[in-house]
Amino acid sequence: MQRHLSPIASPEVYLARHQPDHPVMFLAPDALRTSARRFLDGFGGLVTYAVKANARAEVLANLDAAGIGGFDVASPQEMAAVRALNAQAVLHYNNPVRSPAEVAAGIAAGVASWSVDETGELDKLHAVPRQAEIAVRFALPVVGAAYDFGEKFGATPEEAAKLLVRVAEAGFVPALSFHPGTQCSDPGAWVAYIAEAAGIARRAGVRIARLNVGGGFAAHRSGAAPDLEAVFAAIRQEVNRAFAGQVPDLMCEPGRAMVAEGFSLATRVKSLRSGGDVVYLNDGIYGGLTDLRDMGLSGRVRVIGPLGERRSGQMVPRVVFGPTCDSLDRLPDGLMLPADTQTGDYVLFDGMGAYSIAMSTGFNGYGVDDVVTVLSLSGHSTGAG
Ligand SMILES: Cc1ncc(COP(=O)(O)O)c(C=O)c1O
Repeated sequence: MQRHLSPIASPEVYLARHQPDHPVMFLAPDALRTSARRFLDGFGGLVTYAVKANARAEVLANLDAAGIGGFDVASPQEMAAVRALNAQAVLHYNNPVRSPAEVAAGIAAGVASWSVDETGELDKLHAVPRQAEIAVRFALPVVGAAYDFGEKFGATPEEAAKLLVRVAEAGFVPALSFHPGTQCSDPGAWVAYIAEAAGIARRAGVRIARLNVGGGFAAHRSGAAPDLEAVFAAIRQEVNRAFAGQVPDLMCEPGRAMVAEGFSLATRVKSLRSGGDVVYLNDGIYGGLTDLRDMGLSGRVRVIGPLGERRSGQMVPRVVFGPTCDSLDRLPDGLMLPADTQTGDYVLFDGMGAYSIAMSTGFNGYGVDDVVTVLSLSGHSTGAG
């Protein structure tokens, strides 16, 4: 596909001019940098980026330029992607299940911080230099996120206390970490985890150097944008209360909330059936819309005609299928689209930077791999372009 290097005013301008028949991801570097600044100015600790959310070189380069110096990497491939961009970047390897070859790759890449949630995984790290930080990851049955990461990773608090003792005895820099689950809108989830972290450190008799409060910060999906600053304030308040006198350094590793606002995805209506009730798009759950399967209906959708004109009819519910021959390729909650939507129109999804292009497959020859840089993602209607 074409690479587009010179910025264009907006998705509308580009679509009207080129009328692409494939899905296009629009990137606004300023929006990415604004998200980075929001975390750097508001969080009150080290801000790292969870590369898994979107590993495109443009994303890593813009976040690096904005001052994000640390990256949460889950695999040797992600380490290489970051190192290719910045040889000095700090790597945190927080996928707690690793093969021996992956551990060796992490050591070779100079990983500064590792997480573990089980004794066998700590044993695998015997060759890691002792100046490295090892964070014990624990999980609680808290709610508030779109889905719970605790089912897969994380020691119980009791196991975590024992592991923390072993980490300290082995001479590593001891830390604790958790992840409240992605798209978590409830500050109470962080508060519950932080209170438990303080209890784990107390029971272990270990003063932790750092507390990693994970990612999980919510992106704007519909209605009002999430109040990240309220979450930051709740985190700071609870850390000061729960760790009184022994407050650790703080760290976070947002993926979704860091990159979501940086991108909008333009898909195209291929066909309308059943009087318009059923819409076939040129992208679906095997492409850039994968995340909608787990996150539900997106409320941040606008429809424009092929000449850039905005559709403004009454919003009506539609059944939405993707382009592949698989009948599972359907948005489970459908979409609300304007009544005047037509075949050939573009359906733009805002806030789509996370877990979109990163999860897009080439199934049936479809998927998203065209990224176009624009000055702004908000609509500039062009009329005939
Ligand atoms: C260890 C770790 N940190 C950070 C993240 C990023 O989470 P989110 O995109 O919800 O901020 C993930 C997501 O899988 C993760 O596993």
